[in-house]
Amino acid sequence: MQTAINLERLRQDIEELARIGSEPGGGVSRPSFSPADLEARAWFKKKLTEAGLQVRQDGAGNIFGRLGEKEGPVILVGSHLDTVIHGGKFDGTCGVLSGLESLRVIQEQAIKLKKPVEVVAFTDEEGNLVGDFLGSRAFCGCLNETEIKQGQSQFGQPLKKVLEGTGIGVDSILTAHKEAPQVEAYLELHIEQGETLELEEIPIGLVTTIAGKRLYYGSFLGQPNHAGTTPMELRRDAFLGLADFSLRASRLVISEYEEGRITIGRVELRPGTFSIIPGQADFTLDLRGFRREELAAIEKSVLAVAAETAAARGLSFHHKLVDATEPTDMSSRLISLLEREAQELGYRWMKLTSGAGHDAQILATVTEASLIFIPCLEGVSHSPQEAIRWEDLEKGANLLLKALLRLAT
Ligand code: HGY
Ligand code: MN
Ligand code: MN
Repeated sequence: MQTAINLERLRQDIEELARIGSEPGGGVSRPSFSPADLEARAWFKKKLTEAGLQVRQDGAGNIFGRLGEKEGPVILVGSHLDTVIHGGKFDGTCGVLSGLESLRVIQEQAIKLKKPVEVVAFTDEEGNLVGDFLGSRAFCGCLNETEIKQGQSQFGQPLKKVLEGTGIGVDSILTAHKEAPQVEAYLELHIEQGETLELEEIPIGLVTTIAGKRLYYGSFLGQPNHAGTTPMELRRDAFLGLADFSLRASRLVISEYEEGRITIGRVELRPGTFSIIPGQADFTLDLRGFRREELAAIEKSVLAVAAETAAARGLSFHHKLVDATEPTDMSSRLISLLEREAQELGYRWMKLTSGAGHDAQILATVTEASLIFIPCLEGVSHSPQEAIRWEDLEKGANLLLKALLRLAT
């Protein structure tokens, strides 16, 4: 009997899950612990139970389904089920549900395991709570305790408030790592969220390095004043300060840092009405780089532009570092293993980097981690237009299954 995933069943899972938190425009919104996310969690636990797996949830709300021995080092496969607001239906779900499908096949074919394998859906990979990767960081014991206790989400919600009624608390999040099993290897399948594979017409990407990130909450402060009576030359307009900074900083990153990225994804003007000059411009500042020194240089030079812009416009600039990850190399041993398995399956593959952050870069702090990419159409992601070719997912999931078997049997 051929050991391969059942694409039709996997496709049904993805489509069924996509209906939870779906929106009229075709997108999906399932921020962690939102009603849609809670519904998705219950749906996933039911799927794990139906598959005959040992189901558990840890103190951070990470959900696991295990096959094999209850004890001993585990081969872990997973990703996340939470989404950005108005996101797509493939980001994260491909990895979790391909992991579930792989364990089903192992179970159905009664394949003898030498080591337990476990599929996991990590909490809040997308950072809708306090910084990215809440679940995988809790699992690996690398949380920022102050952020967890005092932090607010980008929407201004304290974590404690979001957790009310979920049965999960700040303390259980901070102690979740104590119940974590030893992980011998971690495998994650994910859409590329870029267009390299698409342009190269290659179905499999083996990620070598995941970009590091600095996430700041920033504010320019000026003076609220009357939109009609205040002459232009006397204004201390916080929005103009932010606008000026945004253009200057993005030009700097484009001209000086070939692989750098800068994104201002959320802006809030206060008081926020048409006839008052904004006295305050709050914003998120997301900086990315593939090498530590490059990321540090981007951070230093962009913050310097913010300070210069504020000074030139009679404003003040305030900022708070909310989240930081380092550029992370994936395990070369697992990359070689995946190369051999892809070769054997007859799949074309290429190595590439990931500008998007992933749970794999957190798991790399405690074990050997790897990340398999499949193309997403036109490289679009974090959007209702996110789409894949099902035959690419079939290849990615079969490679995941083969790698799991190589590691666990
Ligand atoms: O922001 C990221 O790179 C990831 O999608 N959370
Ligand atoms: Mn993702
Ligand atoms: Mn994402």
